[in-house]
Amino acid sequence: MEEFLSSLRRLEESGVAAIADATTEEEIERVRIEYVGRKAPLNQLLRSVRDLPQEERPRAGAEANRVKQRLLELLDARAAEVSAAAVPEAAELDPTLPGRERWRGARHPCTLVTEEVCGIFRELGFSRARGPEAETTWYNFTALNTPLDHPAADEQDTFYLSDETVLRTHTSPVQARVMEKHQPPVRIVVPGVVYRRDPYDASHAPAFEQIEGLAVDEGIDFVDFKAAISYFVHRFFGEETRTRFRPSFFPFTEPSAEVDVSCALCAGEGCSACKGTGWIEIMGAGMVDPAVFDNVGYDSERYTGFAFGMGVGRIAMLRYAIPDIRLLYDSDVRFLSQFGRA
Ligand code: PHE
Repeated sequence: MEEFLSSLRRLEESGVAAIADATTEEEIERVRIEYVGRKAPLNQLLRSVRDLPQEERPRAGAEANRVKQRLLELLDARAAEVSAAAVPEAAELDPTLPGRERWRGARHPCTLVTEEVCGIFRELGFSRARGPEAETTWYNFTALNTPLDHPAADEQDTFYLSDETVLRTHTSPVQARVMEKHQPPVRIVVPGVVYRRDPYDASHAPAFEQIEGLAVDEGIDFVDFKAAISYFVHRFFGEETRTRFRPSFFPFTEPSAEVDVSCALCAGEGCSACKGTGWIEIMGAGMVDPAVFDNVGYDSERYTGFAFGMGVGRIAMLRYAIPDIRLLYDSDVRFLSQFGRA
């Protein structure tokens, strides 16, 4: 019995020392196998308990199990210490390194432009309206004096969600929706996403934002239209910017115009941004066609108005000198964080 206990004590001491000396996970595993593994001397000792005289067995067994238990606990504790030490200590941090700038959100250039444009028209008495992106062919085409077999509808051939529902190709359908609900005077701006069967290239995207505008009242004429647009251009692009109205065609306006602004990069001299013309197109517009008023139940003898629609991305490109419209949609934070830091 004495011999048994002294062997046990020697094993305990050398086991405790070996565990304390182990500095890696592999070393700990080796010690574990050596001291408490299946073939370890400690287990042989445990098995030899049955060779001891009957009355000594309980104490010998209990003692041997206590040692095994202690070694197992020390092994686990040591393993935890070793893996914690694998993380660099605080002393390895360099407190003199400059701090990392805190992440801050930034508003998207298109959001900035939308806010600014709507803000300018707000001063002219325009409120904001919204409409659905999944739109009926009635509102997207027919109500806007664009029969589905008209070539102008072809030009805006688009994604049909069902026979009578499309992804809207412009924000103009909201004109009709608002006029059906409200009697004149109406003054609204309508920001929103529209969808086109356009390629994705430097100046086109298949989904992009527009801002629609509509003013209807008694006695609104072309001069009011030009004055409102020129006021907007001066406010948005600067006093020195000139405005040009070019004859154009839209089924829902008559007369129709494309509105150009003088190129800010070359001050109208002609450069690559304006393709040598000195002018850059910013919107389609015109006087509301009486047929549209008839479609929404307005008295087209009594009321007149003007409407316009502009591409927000194009205007953001002009505003911030962005060379490729795809930059607006790539979601590259390095690009986007340059704008509109709060
Ligand atoms: N809806 C036209 C487009 O998307 C723009 C427009 C709006 C033209 C209002 C005239 C009046 O091209």
